[in-house]
Amino acid sequence: MHRYPQITIAIHWLTAVLVVVAWFTAVGGRHARTDPSYVHFTVGLAVLLLVIPRLVARWLGAGPRIEDPQKRWLDLAARAGHTVLYALLIALPLSGWYAASRLGLSVSIFGIGLPSLATPVQGAPGEIADLHETGGTLILWLAGLHALIALWHQFVLKDRTLERMNPLASPD
Ligand code: HEM
Ligand code: HEM
Repeated sequence: MHRYPQITIAIHWLTAVLVVVAWFTAVGGRHARTDPSYVHFTVGLAVLLLVIPRLVARWLGAGPRIEDPQKRWLDLAARAGHTVLYALLIALPLSGWYAASRLGLSVSIFGIGLPSLATPVQGAPGEIADLHETGGTLILWLAGLHALIALWHQFVLKDRTLERMNPLASPD
């Protein structure tokens, strides 16, 4: 198989858009308590919801085969990079949910209220909230690097990597 399944491709691009929207709608510092962004919460939790079927599809072996088995190191580097991205796609929504709970904010997705993950505090929401803020920007940098590497694969190495995620490419 050359391409990812359509469902994986759809989730990949939807997730990319949601991560960017989550970044733009994020509210930190003292405003996080007084004027929180519920769009940020919903969009961020949607990322968590989408990563689950995506990982299940991956574990079921729905990924394309390695294009060039001669370049094992490139394959290993890609796997390591994708693992970090997946880890952030799970850790960010969970740490954000935790941070919101510490700030005493109620969290819901599409109108469905979710339980609080921590006891609310009066002061700063703590280290996990700090890590969430740093990780939230880190994922954007990593995704930018990931996109550049994908373009390098496609146009310099010419190994058709980008086509594997292209929803419009003809199936083969
Ligand atoms: C926030 C934005 C993004 C995130 C979180 C993200 C995440 C990921 C992850 C986790 C994978 C691994 C899929 C798997 O093997 O299960 C992947 C694959 C891929 N991504 Fe992204 N991505 C983002 C944006 C982009 C952009 C902007 C591009 C293109 C310019 C891109 C191109 C690709 C390609 C071509 C693959 C397939 C790589 C391969 O088969 O080795 N991604 N992405
Ligand atoms: C992919 C998902 C997410 C990304 C990329 C992301 C990104 C960010 C960023 C960059 C900040 C810092 C904003 C600033 O300092 O101005 C932030 C803050 C925050 N986010 Fe997220 N976030 C995500 C998911 C979530 C979710 C799901 C929730 C809650 C359910 C959440 C709750 C919060 C809260 C409460 C803060 C403020 C923390 C504080 O002030 O200490 N985030 N987020």
